[in-house]
Amino acid sequence: MKIGILGSGRGTNFEAIADAIDRGVLKAEMVVVISDVENALILEKAKQKGIPHFYIPPGKYQTRLDPQAEKKYVTCLKEHGVTWVVLAGFMRVLKEIFFENYSGKILNIHPSLLPSFRGLKAWSQALDYGVKITGCTVHAVDGGVDTGPIILQEAVRVEDSDNSETLHARIQELEHRLYPQALQLIAEGKVEFRGRRVVMKR
Ligand code: GAR
Repeated sequence: MKIGILGSGRGTNFEAIADAIDRGVLKAEMVVVISDVENALILEKAKQKGIPHFYIPPGKYQTRLDPQAEKKYVTCLKEHGVTWVVLAGFMRVLKEIFFENYSGKILNIHPSLLPSFRGLKAWSQALDYGVKITGCTVHAVDGGVDTGPIILQEAVRVEDSDNSETLHARIQELEHRLYPQALQLIAEGKVEFRGRRVVMKR
């Protein structure tokens, strides 16, 4: 499994995955990190770990990559031999060129129990809605926003004292465990996709 990470932000999920590889609990290789944000911390963290990293400008759209940019992303992933594209806080939706090249091989982590609270700042959406339980989801990426088949989920209780920072921090603790775990299950060939349902092979 040769992982290429796309991220826009702090890169804590990237770190958790890279650490799991370093500790030998995730049998995979991290071959490249790409960001759509020039000064994103994730690029600095990739640099510190000696992993090839690139800023590729996203083009003129706010919520997706323009087609020229998308080609550059896919070319860069291919050049580095990426077999699985792992979105780690990448804040744009992917379009055709990705799915033509990495169909069924793109994963995302989302900070809610999908299908609740798709889109941005899902932890704030959960607080505002008033749910008592939220969590995080690792899922395969399809053409929609946070709509692909669910691989793993874990729950976290919303406390009365929570604000958006404390809740997001607790969700992130779960994310850092769940994402490497999902990747290792895939690396071991234990994950079977049956349409929308994803089951673990015994
Ligand atoms: C994570 O909480 C991730 O679930 C979320 O962005 C954060 C990135 O943190 N992703 C989304 O909201 C995607 N819709 P990180 O840069 O520290 O890994």
